This record gives sequence, structure tokens and C-alpha cells, in this order.
Amino acid sequence: MSNRLKVTPNDLSAFWMPFTANRQFKQAPRMFVSAKDMHYTTSDGRKVLDGTAGLWCVNAGHCRPKITEAIQHQAAELDYAPAFQMGHPIVFELANRLVDIAPKGMDHVFFTNSGSESVDTALKMAIAYHRTRGEGSRTRLIGRERGYHGVNFGGISVGGIVTNRKMFGTLLGGVDHMPHTHLPEKNAFSKGVPEHGAELANELERIVALHDASTIAAVIVEPVAGSTGVILPPKGYLQKLREICTKHGILLIFDEVITGFGRLGAPFAADYFGVTPDIMTTAKGVSNGVIPMGAVFVKKEIHDAFMTGPEHMIEFFHGYTYSGNPIACAAALGTLDTYKEEGLLNRGEELAPYWEDALHSLKGEPHVIDIRNIGLIGAIELAPIAGQPTKRAFSAFVKAFERGALIRTTGDIIALSPPLIITKGQINELIDHVRDVLRSID
Ligand SMILES: Cc1ncc(COP(=O)(O)O)c(C=O)c1O
Repeated sequence: MSNRLKVTPNDLSAFWMPFTANRQFKQAPRMFVSAKDMHYTTSDGRKVLDGTAGLWCVNAGHCRPKITEAIQHQAAELDYAPAFQMGHPIVFELANRLVDIAPKGMDHVFFTNSGSESVDTALKMAIAYHRTRGEGSRTRLIGRERGYHGVNFGGISVGGIVTNRKMFGTLLGGVDHMPHTHLPEKNAFSKGVPEHGAELANELERIVALHDASTIAAVIVEPVAGSTGVILPPKGYLQKLREICTKHGILLIFDEVITGFGRLGAPFAADYFGVTPDIMTTAKGVSNGVIPMGAVFVKKEIHDAFMTGPEHMIEFFHGYTYSGNPIACAAALGTLDTYKEEGLLNRGEELAPYWEDALHSLKGEPHVIDIRNIGLIGAIELAPIAGQPTKRAFSAFVKAFERGALIRTTGDIIALSPPLIITKGQINELIDHVRDVLRSID
């Protein structure tokens, strides 16, 4: 461990931390200084089991050699190349490798640096696509209540988490929302996708009837909503959405920033559910979270619609200085190699039944009002403390950290999404930590 990592900074004020209760954190900081495979090490030398793959991203576990070596090599070979009007070999190699594992028909990739950028890229692509085909009136975007699509203006406009929206003005115009699919009164303690609620997809027909299909560019949903606290699509729901979008010429965007790269036990949620969107946004697991990267997958028809006009003209006026950054590409290639060698994109399928049983063994523990699971995702919903929403789950988070497990909480929901290398023994350990925590909090 380097000296730098041993030092605990004595002034925490300069760094304005994202999505953090800054004042509370700085009174009792929680610091990680290193990580390996399934564990972090804290600044006071304790091991903490990673129950959340960082922020749903470290799917192959921490500090994996193939990824580290690829980054080191690339940093010494070609550190940066302009992303516009210039190329470098591994960005093309990576695009091909990604297309190889993508759902059939999604055969072009646009690179970004985050999930938020992938989402805004996809929304812009959808609107511009219709315009290139002479349907410039299709500008409306349809999201869903409780959806999370990152924090940029497009993403929060189609997103449906009120705390992420209410402070930021009027957002994008021309956006509507479908209802969320969380129906605890009917579906509580479902194992896997719930039975009830597929009919909620028909709400899209109501929205189409209100605005007319000729004004709607795209519908964006997370196939499994993650950040809002894990809401699963009812059986048949995504199939219905696909049918309605196809019927009305509306593009369907799956935001697979969390579900992509093996989280459900298949490479993508599109594979898991057998429903192929027109555009698919990814980030996180594409580079194991190690170097920022996002990738937007599109169907051939969409890509090809842009490839018209004079050949010297830029076809899509969009991109980022770091789109396809060489070091990020190297990290992603190292990640894909690791996934392939260890079968990680499908490992969740084999572990899912064990994971499901372990999670549902928490039924009946104090405060638990629902448990949800799919692939290697789990959620334990707690009854809120009257008048103090989020407080109970946050106490659970802090207690779990002190005991040696990293969990994630949103509202009063504990969300779990461990690296895909987790063993059955570590699943037991994680769930035992959560059980002890639930028994110890008010
Ligand atoms: C579904 C979804 N979309 C977009 C994002 C935003 O990703 P980022 O934080 O990389 O911008 C997230 C992040 O959790 C996400 O879960």
C-alpha cells in the first residue's frame, strides 16, 4: 500500500461529495483505501464484503489483473487520441467485441463516458433519427415514474424520481411518463418477476391517444428499475411495451446501465426477457467501473438512416472529447476478456436460485415488508420510521458497513447487487450481515 493511501486527510471540506449527506459524512467518514476481488479495505484496516459491486458496476470484482494490465499497457502506448475525425485501433476492436455479445441486430456502438451521457445520447439519437426520415414531428419522449436515467437534463426529464427532478426547473418540454410497476399489495415477496401488472403497459396506449403517435419519438425504460429500489417488470410487461412501440413506430430504448453485462444472468436484460429494444444504453459493467465509459447500442436501421447526404459531412453532431478514450477501451477489453474466461456474463443464472433462497430467508425479520429478486439483484424493503423516511435504511447501511458489508440503500429499501464472482459462502455471509443488522436497528 502506498503512503498516500495510508494517510487519512484531515480536511474534508473542499470536496463536495455527490449524492451524499456531506455534513453527516464528514463528521464520521467512511473511507476505502484498497480493494481486491470481493472485498474493500477501509482506512482503519478492516475488510468489507462488497454487496453492491461498487455502484452496480464492478461486475468482475476488484483489481482484476487482466484489466489492470490492459490499462497500464495502454497508458504507456497511446494515452489519448482525438475522438473526432481521428481513430485508433482498439476503439474499433472494442466496438466489434461488444457487437458480438449484444442482442442480435444491435450492431453499432456509440461511446460515451457514463450512463447519464449514454441516456442523453440515446434520446438525441431517437429524435434525430425520426427527423432524418422526414418525421421531424416525432419529438416527444416517454419515460416512467420512478425511473432513473442518470442526472443530465434529458435523463432527469424522462426519469421519475422526484428528488432528482424537483430542484431543477422545468426540465425538457414534451415529456410524459407511464406509471411505475411497483404493486406491493399484489406482488409483495414475489420470487423473480411478479405475476401482476402487465396491463400497466397499456398506459402507453393512453399516452399515445393523448399526444398522437406522430409526435412521439421514443419510450425509455429500465428493464429492471434499479436505483429507485429495484422494481421488476411484471410478467409479459416488456413484451407488451415492445408491441405497442412497434405498432406506433415509436423507438423503444432499454436503459441497461445496471442490467447490462451479466447482472441478470444473461449478457443483457434484452436477452433475459427475449425483448429487443431499438436502442440500448449501457455504462458501468462495460469497463467494470474501473475507467469511466458508456456505450449506446443501436440497430442497423437507425445507424443507417444517418448515413446519407454528402460523404464529407458529419452525420451526427454529437460526441464527447473522451468518447472511446484509448485507456477506457483497454479497460473494457480487459473486462470483456475477464467476463469471457470466467463465464461471468451467464454466471448469475446458475447462482440466481441460491441467491433467491438466501434473500427470501430474510422474510419475517424485523421491519421487512417486501423482498424482490432477479438474477443477482436483490431488494429488501423496510417499513419506514413514521415521519422519518429513509432513516431506518440508512442506519442499516451504516451498521452493515461497521460489521463488514457494503450494502446500498435508497429510500427505505436495501438494494444488493454483488460482483458476479461471489461464492455461495459469501452470499451466506452477506445475508447473515443483513439479518444481524435488521435485528439490531430500531
Ligand atoms: C439505469 C441507469 N441509467 C443511467 C445511470 C447513470 O449512470 P452514471 O451515474 O454513470 O451517469 C444509472 C446509474 O446508476 C442507471 O442505473
